[in-house]
Amino acid sequence: MSGRIPKQFIDDLLLRVDIVDLIDSHLPLKKTGGNFVARCPFHTEKTPSFNVNRNRQIFHCFGCGASGNAISFLMDFSHLDFVEAVEDLAAFVGVEVPKAATDKADYASKQDNSHIYQALEDASAFYTAQLRSPEGKKAVEYLKRRGVSAEIARRYSLGYAPDKWDALLNRYDQKTLLEAGLLVSRDDGKTYDRFRNRLMFPIRDKRKRVIGFGGRVLDDSLPKYLNSPETAAFSKGKELYGLCELLENHSRPAQILIVEGYMDVIALAQFGVDNAVAALGTATSKAHLDLLFRFAPELVFCFDGDSAGRQAAWKATETALPCLRDGRQIKIMLLPQTQDPDTLIRAEGITAFKERIVNAHVLSDYFFEQSSSSLNLNTVEGRSQLLAAAKPQLEKMPGGFFRDMMLARLEELSGIRFLKADRPKTPAQSIKRPIVLQKSNLMRRIVALLLQFPHLARHIEQHAGFVAALDMPGTELLRDVLTVIAGAKPENSAVLLESYRDSAHAKAVTALSNLVLDIPEGGEENEFRGALNQLLKQEREKRMSALIDKVSRGEPLSADETAEYKTGGKL
Ligand code: UTP
Ligand code: MN
Repeated sequence: MSGRIPKQFIDDLLLRVDIVDLIDSHLPLKKTGGNFVARCPFHTEKTPSFNVNRNRQIFHCFGCGASGNAISFLMDFSHLDFVEAVEDLAAFVGVEVPKAATDKADYASKQDNSHIYQALEDASAFYTAQLRSPEGKKAVEYLKRRGVSAEIARRYSLGYAPDKWDALLNRYDQKTLLEAGLLVSRDDGKTYDRFRNRLMFPIRDKRKRVIGFGGRVLDDSLPKYLNSPETAAFSKGKELYGLCELLENHSRPAQILIVEGYMDVIALAQFGVDNAVAALGTATSKAHLDLLFRFAPELVFCFDGDSAGRQAAWKATETALPCLRDGRQIKIMLLPQTQDPDTLIRAEGITAFKERIVNAHVLSDYFFEQSSSSLNLNTVEGRSQLLAAAKPQLEKMPGGFFRDMMLARLEELSGIRFLKADRPKTPAQSIKRPIVLQKSNLMRRIVALLLQFPHLARHIEQHAGFVAALDMPGTELLRDVLTVIAGAKPENSAVLLESYRDSAHAKAVTALSNLVLDIPEGGEENEFRGALNQLLKQEREKRMSALIDKVSRGEPLSADETAEYKTGGKL
């Protein structure tokens, strides 16, 4: 996706910006020696391990491993996608993103859907105006009956869709309304307003655009809620009701509550719990959880206490396990039978409700409790059933201490040892220490130096033949990095890293670009030449001994080999 904005523009942008200024404008930095530091915005810490390097134009946190260039910083810090981050960075520098690039019709996230967003925005304004008109009186009555305050109705832009088949139909372009999901088009060609005589809940995305609606009947008729269909602007599996309003109040909430309904989000906000969101009439998806974890380290699922709620809680547990990494926490909260957050907070108030959040089950406890609830762990059968059911689930979790701990607990509960003895035992092997490279690992060191100081590549130019003949672990990446440097001519590390965004090598490149090389300021030239010479020497010795073997076996050498033999293995 990064291909659509001209690469040259992005590279120029990265050269024009000073990452120290950029980050400092979001998060005050302190100068210590040649570096700028702060407490890391991506994890909680007491002492600063977040470093910004002006020479290389990158940031790196030794605590949590977050790292990248100016674009990555904006994506992570401001929760932006790539294009949004480039736009913000361009604005920071005071230049415009080239028009041709962003207006391209085939460009997925920039496809021109502005007319759809406009129609949705207009419809929302129309519905809120209707709520205040004489026709909307019954909806206002309904809100009053349910105890929804005028202020909260305003904050969530609640509206009313009048009891007509053509209230919107007659006001806007029909094709656009269809694209926006606001009309229903029947097979017999009849077209009419989707939402009629309903209380309207506009749904916004994190950029505050209206993307769809939920509409509730004002009585007991069915269906109770109608939701916008999937459209170019609206994707149920990815969006959450209330997230936009939540972020308006807290850009970095400590915790987000996931509830089931629109009315739950609204009632909680009215009573002071303004960190709740709701999935839109679907089960919470992995995409939802990943989205929410971009904003908060802890998510609390809130389910009704009835059997449907319990089923949903178990389903959520299964969905959540693969999203759990170190530093992410999920809790499960089951409400009393027949209550939902809306009724409960009205009945017992904010203090009692918050207490319930604190006392919610930690996901790991809940998982083991539920997995073993119908089993008798005093029997071999029970314990092996637990193992058979739980192990595959836990194995879906990403690697890390959390997963190790869950598996260790399963071993303990089942009494069946299945973990290898050589798995990491203590957090001592954590990534939390800077990685200091073994002197002996020359190839890694050479690639790391090139990534951190791309201008060093010129020292390797005269050894093209040598590089082409190399055959050892890491050679493929070395060649790739050299090709990228030769092609893109990056002026610093940040620009080079940008070439690897979304590439298959991205992981290795990030790790190597963060390796602590322990070289004095300005010492990289000597270091690189030294490492390169050592590699050349090792390879020569290897090739020479292969040639000597051949000669001693009495095999003939080719002309090239003879020449190489004479020059002592030089290619
Ligand atoms: P609930 O039935 O629990 O509704 O559905 P609620 O939010 O408590 O609403 P009130 O209090 O009766 O007004 C939970 C969510 O499931 C979706 C909606 O998103 C709703 O908020 N839902 C429910 C639908 O999409 N369609 C329906 O017919 C019912
Ligand atoms: Mn309800």
